[in-house]
Amino acid sequence: MSRLDKVLTVDEMKACARRRVPKQFFDYADSGSWTESTYRANRADFEKILLRQRIARSLEDRSLATAIAGQDVAMPVALSPTGLTGMQCADGEIKAARAAASAGVPFTLSTMSICSIEDVAANSSRPFWFQLYVMRDRKFIERLIDRAKAAKCPVLVLTMDLQILGQRHKDIRNGLSAPPKFTPRFLFEIARKPQWAFEMLGTKRRSFGNIVGHVDNAGDLASLSAWTANQFDLTLNWKDVAWIKNRFGGPVIVKGVLDPEDAKLALAHGADGIIVSNHGGRQLDGARSSISALPAIVEAVGDKTEVYVDGGVASGQDVLKAIALGAKAAFIGRAFLWGLGAGGEAGVARVLDILRRELDVTMALCGERDIRKVGPHNLDLGGTWPRIGSMRETTPLAAADIRTR
Ligand SMILES: Cc1cc2nc3c(=O)[nH]c(=O)nc-3n(C[C@H](O)[C@H](O)[C@H](O)COP(=O)(O)O)c2cc1C
Repeated sequence: MSRLDKVLTVDEMKACARRRVPKQFFDYADSGSWTESTYRANRADFEKILLRQRIARSLEDRSLATAIAGQDVAMPVALSPTGLTGMQCADGEIKAARAAASAGVPFTLSTMSICSIEDVAANSSRPFWFQLYVMRDRKFIERLIDRAKAAKCPVLVLTMDLQILGQRHKDIRNGLSAPPKFTPRFLFEIARKPQWAFEMLGTKRRSFGNIVGHVDNAGDLASLSAWTANQFDLTLNWKDVAWIKNRFGGPVIVKGVLDPEDAKLALAHGADGIIVSNHGGRQLDGARSSISALPAIVEAVGDKTEVYVDGGVASGQDVLKAIALGAKAAFIGRAFLWGLGAGGEAGVARVLDILRRELDVTMALCGERDIRKVGPHNLDLGGTWPRIGSMRETTPLAAADIRTR
């Protein structure tokens, strides 16, 4: 049995990643903004949702296969875009893209990735999705969209919840940077994480691959940091969806929607899908959890477009709950980053395998054989139970909301 085969849950994978990834990069993933209350709520609210057990039904020939954004997938799971992924382990984006391709699920490359669009395209077998941050330098953004098109990315994910950055205390205290600064503290740190350091020395991919060499005045690290800090566009608004769609020419999915009114606006401005997300609790601390926002958004736009969700998904049970509440797929951020930190491509493959097995057995224990048939009827909405009652107070997941759909 290999080291990774012994890992049975996403939380165990997290513990494994903590032992192997330098603190500043482990913390970068394991943090939310300010008090981290929204980061915690993303996980906690999943636990409040009860599944409905059914028995004595035929469970033969089960299928998790479905389609999202017009693409056939092996299960309703996709990898969320995450910046600096190539700092969780060397060449991280390429390794995650490969693991996702083998598992038959989409990988989304972040604008703020370490490996560039071209690099990931050249080193993975399946088309991946590209996530766009809109920056002030519109010529750069146009070129970035063109590069995603040239790399045959079938879907553009437009992130609209980060015009300004929520403060993450850990990153400030750790002096996070890519590539990392060689301070005595960092040298001490990597002496205890030799595998990470050894692999990192063996790659040239250590800075923001989509940016370095593609914009003027961002050649060296100092100017790149300054450029990035000043670049997120405060003027981004719904009207921008049109030119981005026009330039890309394929489906554009808006990410970062947490409010039904914004969901309707996204749709009215041409979004081809919506990711209900609070950026993994990294932006507006005090905002509600993504899963608690999902039902009202599905209610508002679910019959007109595909709605996906991310934030706190850490098990196959979570995926099933998201699907039962109307999501077409659940995206994972930290879950796959922990796999990457713990074991590179094999670690991500293991995380996806854990989720697939959990989802399959959970679906069966709910009495279902086909993931496409999972719905609100698979949730236990019995009104008298304390856990449901406490959830009603904090979320819009009232039984009545769900029953009406
Ligand atoms: C380390 C890290 C980096 C992230 N970077 C990006 C990014 O570059 N673009 C983006 O749209 N979202 C980014 N996100 C948010 C994720 O896409 C996603 O919304 C979030 O991770 C989902 O929550 P989960 O990590 O609990 O699964 C990042 C999240 C993390 C944890």
